[in-house]
Amino acid sequence: MKTILVTGGAGFIGSNFVKTMLDKYPNYKIINIDALTYAGNLENLKDIDYNENYTFIKADIRARQKIDKIFETYDIDMVVNFAAESHVDRSIVEPEIFLTTNVIGTQVLLDIAKKHWNLNPKDKYCKEYKEGVKFLQVSTDEVYGALGKTGMFVETMPLMPNNPYSASKASADMIVRSYYETFGMPINITRCSNNYGPYQFPEKLIPLMINNCLKGKELPVYGDGMQIRDWLHVLVHCIAIDTVLHKGVVGEVYNIGGNNEKANIDIVKLIIKTLGKSEDLITYVKDRPGHDRRYAIDNTKITTELGWEPQYTFEKGIKETIDWYLDNIDWIENIVSGDYMRYYESMYGEVY
Ligand code: NAD
Ligand code: DAU
Repeated sequence: MKTILVTGGAGFIGSNFVKTMLDKYPNYKIINIDALTYAGNLENLKDIDYNENYTFIKADIRARQKIDKIFETYDIDMVVNFAAESHVDRSIVEPEIFLTTNVIGTQVLLDIAKKHWNLNPKDKYCKEYKEGVKFLQVSTDEVYGALGKTGMFVETMPLMPNNPYSASKASADMIVRSYYETFGMPINITRCSNNYGPYQFPEKLIPLMINNCLKGKELPVYGDGMQIRDWLHVLVHCIAIDTVLHKGVVGEVYNIGGNNEKANIDIVKLIIKTLGKSEDLITYVKDRPGHDRRYAIDNTKITTELGWEPQYTFEKGIKETIDWYLDNIDWIENIVSGDYMRYYESMYGEVY
């Protein structure tokens, strides 16, 4: 029996993770806290609304008193921190919120967890240390920067982030590490490649292209479209996070990737072909500033030390994902029209 605090659980990966955990561990309690920014969508979780092991609380990870109260009310054993501003393009336009949420928010969570878990391992006489606790920081491969034509990201590489989003995630990783070194916070950091699958907000490449393609709208490809990402199905990522949560060696960083490098233009053409549309929709647009050319993850550590493997093939995963968006047109329409935000406002007050 464990109580897991999931932050950002109304977003893409977080909502898939909450459902994965409730399914897999019928005796765990999941407390999901989310600020319900533009990216949070409670519709992602409507199937589990009535699950008695699940509680949703609208809360901002930067709100120290509220987070403290949540730790006081629930006996939290583990934190999985997904909450973040996650879109690179937005970070180029409006970097500040990336720093306050991704860096300060993470530090607030660490501080409150430290207080409630009575961490002070440097004090050998501390009797009250709470056993079996863990803080898992969900980070990204972008913290390593960009690769050239060859090579892969390994956990020991220096962090060389190139945009405000990845710089904020790298900063958070360092704060998490510092709480391990200084206060003995039992932490893991996971660094994952690009996820795809159901419930991804349609500002990201794959759902954006599916949505535009279905509507016969232009498909904006940045620069020459030859940037490479290493795609991983979101449910496979969720299993990897669960593996690290339960088996990860405290203090360690684990890369998670799909062994599946694809150029953006090839993804766009695959979506066009699957939906039976014309490549004339492709529109090459100005490149993203500071655009990372290539990401590729070396999975050796997690596969050999923890026994996790990326099991989905991309061909199966992308077909299922396109089918999911076709079967859930209303989900995208509610986002595009803003209806999902109005739904929150009526339930939880002002949404920002
Ligand atoms: P997302 O944007 O879909 O979801 C983020 C969630 O966090 C939303 O529900 C949002 O409401 C919530 N949130 C934002 N600010 C908050 C705050 N201040 N307090 C509480 N909640 C807040 O993001 P995602 O794609 O699901 O990514 C989840 C995590 O995984 C992020 O930390 C991201 O950096 C990381 N990651 C994502 C990918 C990917 O491909 N999507 C890959 C590697 C790592
Ligand atoms: O690598 C992990 C990261 O993957 C995560 O940390 C981020 O949270 C997540 O957003 C994602 O970042 P990317 O910038 O790689 O994802 P995005 O979907 O925005 O873009 C994927 C690639 O497609 C990238 O090279 C930019 C390009 N692109 C994107 C959009 C939205 C286009 O060419 N056209 C577009 O319209």
